[in-house]
Amino acid sequence: MAVTYDDVLTGVRAAIEHAASYPEAMLQAVNVLKEQMPDYSWVGIYMLEGEELILGPYRGKPSPHTHILLNQGICGAAASTKETIIVDDVDADARYLACSLETRSEIVVPIMRGADVLGEIDVDSDKKAAFGPADRDLLEAVATLLARKSGQP
Ligand code: SME
Repeated sequence: MAVTYDDVLTGVRAAIEHAASYPEAMLQAVNVLKEQMPDYSWVGIYMLEGEELILGPYRGKPSPHTHILLNQGICGAAASTKETIIVDDVDADARYLACSLETRSEIVVPIMRGADVLGEIDVDSDKKAAFGPADRDLLEAVATLLARKSGQP
């Protein structure tokens, strides 16, 4: 039987809970998502430092965008608006910063602690319109789990 979104969330939750630290939790979350979601071609987490998003753990091809300002890209837009952004066709979005030529769609989910942006989960797909409400729910749940972990000693 195929892995369900609930199964994936259960796996990510366990990985985050067992992680010894917040950085380790981010790494494990990225690993589980990349391994279990076939349409997720690139999975990474950016951390907000001052006015800049800095690339942390990721799986997929190396990205040229390791530092992104808040007024740049889909990533900057999601951090500025503090809202999840889904782009069905990256070629049709002028904000898009290309990471890989194969990428067709993208979702960026802010990791929030209260009103503060800690960072964001960024997922690219080689398929157009790969991300729907179930992906949004999954990744927003993962973002909540990560935010909670970040506050632990
Ligand atoms: N596409 C992103 C840049 C990051 S790479 O996809 C890894 C953006 O437009 O902000």
